[in-house]
Amino acid sequence: MHPLALVGLILALTHFSVPLAYYWHLKRKYLHRPWNLKLNPNYRPKVTVIVPTYNEAELIEKKLDNIAEQEYPRDKLEVIVVDSASNDGTPEKVREWSKKHPELNLKLITEPVRKGKAYALNTALKHSQGEIVVITDADSFWPDRRTLLETVKWLSDPTVGAVSCIKTPANQRGIEDTYRQYYNTLRILESKAWSTPVFHGELAAYKKKLLEEIGGFPTDLGADDSHTATMIALKGYRAITPETLKCVELIPKKSYHSWRIRRAQHLIQHFAKTLRTKHRTPKQFKKILAIETWLHLANPWTLITATATLITTAIAGSMLASLLLAIGALLLIYKPYRTWITTQLHLALAAIRNLWTKELAWSKQNK
Ligand code: GDD
Ligand code: MN
Repeated sequence: MHPLALVGLILALTHFSVPLAYYWHLKRKYLHRPWNLKLNPNYRPKVTVIVPTYNEAELIEKKLDNIAEQEYPRDKLEVIVVDSASNDGTPEKVREWSKKHPELNLKLITEPVRKGKAYALNTALKHSQGEIVVITDADSFWPDRRTLLETVKWLSDPTVGAVSCIKTPANQRGIEDTYRQYYNTLRILESKAWSTPVFHGELAAYKKKLLEEIGGFPTDLGADDSHTATMIALKGYRAITPETLKCVELIPKKSYHSWRIRRAQHLIQHFAKTLRTKHRTPKQFKKILAIETWLHLANPWTLITATATLITTAIAGSMLASLLLAIGALLLIYKPYRTWITTQLHLALAAIRNLWTKELAWSKQNK
């Protein structure tokens, strides 16, 4: 056997066994385990819902309607739309909507210059009155009128600092649904184990006191949601995505892959920064954070080096390498496998792209 073919095989086995072992371990241990939290269904803190917008004229009214449908006491609910120099009439639409809905306490903040989502969130945070701050993107919807009630219920436990949702794509787009199913389960399992380091801006709720303690949202990287939640988890609070909190998100009509690569860039920035930040990781969070860091920063490269090694040795005449490559290619007809491989390619391309752009103020995609 060609020794390099063996190296390729070991790299490929490493690539697939780490995430599979992690997933099955979490599933076996936590799937049927109760949450172990003390939840108070009558908890009604003051809530500020922040909607950041950049050129969301097409969706903003529907988004505000969706928030207005929420069953939450009106006197305890404040909504802030923070817009960063949209040029499609988003602020005007918000003003008109607000006139028609005086019962909802809605504030509009307009920034004259666009400095990115996280920067805008910090501006809104300064004006917020709520004890709980809920971020929600304009291109996402809450399918349940009790979403806010449910969100604060999970935050009623003093050990929980941040809560996010599980996501379903609104419009079926190729592999997106398979990708989501797998990651939704993983996020719930990690949350049950203790906390998840990946959050979603479609619904990301935080205790404001903790946001202030960590200095607000990070403006030097893209993943405002995941990094903020992780900083709160590193302070010893739980950052969770319960299975009862659902969000629907719109998927871009075009450029699906560049959209996924940009999001992957942000996640890589988040894990790389967390790795560099000095902190004492809570015991229960250590393994989760270490494995997720490995899966986002290193694991895609084990696949790429495995493939490169196998191709080289196959060309040099190794039968084993050719066979492994053929199996790897054939398996692509199996959707979960194809989804996984595509995600690895997104992560690898994202790491390369991060070398020249952080995508802190990304271009708007039509959904
Ligand atoms: N105020 C403001 N300023 N809002 C912005 C800006 C900005 O510069 N850029 C984007 N937004 C708003 C959008 O209008 C939208 O409501 C929300 O932020 C998310 O932007 P999308 O364009 O929908 O980005 P995404 O869904 O692909 O981004 C995902 O990843 C981001 C981090 O990687 C979401 O999960 C985001 O929540 C997350 O921040
Ligand atoms: Mn979005």
